[in-house]
Amino acid sequence: MDVLKLIRERRTARSFTGEPIDPEVLDRILDAGRMAPSAKNRQAWRFVAVQKSELKAAMADASYGDRRVLDAGCVVAICTTNIHYTMPNGQSSYPMDLSFATAFMMMQAESEGLSSALLGTYDERSIKDILTVPHAMRVALLLAIGAKGEEEPTRLERHPMDRVVSFDHW
Ligand SMILES: Cc1cc2nc3c(=O)[nH]c(=O)nc-3n(C[C@H](O)[C@H](O)[C@H](O)COP(=O)(O)O)c2cc1C
Repeated sequence: MDVLKLIRERRTARSFTGEPIDPEVLDRILDAGRMAPSAKNRQAWRFVAVQKSELKAAMADASYGDRRVLDAGCVVAICTTNIHYTMPNGQSSYPMDLSFATAFMMMQAESEGLSSALLGTYDERSIKDILTVPHAMRVALLLAIGAKGEEEPTRLERHPMDRVVSFDHW
């Protein structure tokens, strides 16, 4: 499998068809998150996979009416179970741990021929209420996954290599 090709061709879905996701496919996607690296292998995460229409509808309201939340086959709420680990470099590990898990799920979704959209635009308190997430936990992101709808994603270019990469020194 050409990972770089998948990475280059992936785009944030602008719409989904509303089709459900095959349970075995969804299992593999969630497993990709489970297998992601985390600081000290603490795995302080919980992935709440939501497929029920009534829950997705409530989550779409909490996401300011984003239709993708309703039409995705599954919306995964990427949650912490503990936010207190600080790495020896002084940085909190949970945003990074959860980002890796999310990225792994995104790429597995791509390799299954599905599309995804990362969403940070939602009212966290409402999402917690809908999904009965304990209030001490965070819902760091939503990952909407499904079959890509008709609205074509915009191709947003990336900075060239020589702007973002240097060798040996800044
Ligand atoms: C942490 C994070 C939060 C994001 N939140 C949103 C969001 O709320 N809504 C949205 O449409 N896209 C969201 N995105 C997607 C980015 O806008 C998108 O990845 C970026 O514009 C590049 O486009 P591409 O993914 O199609 O290449 C988010 C991405 C990241 C990494």
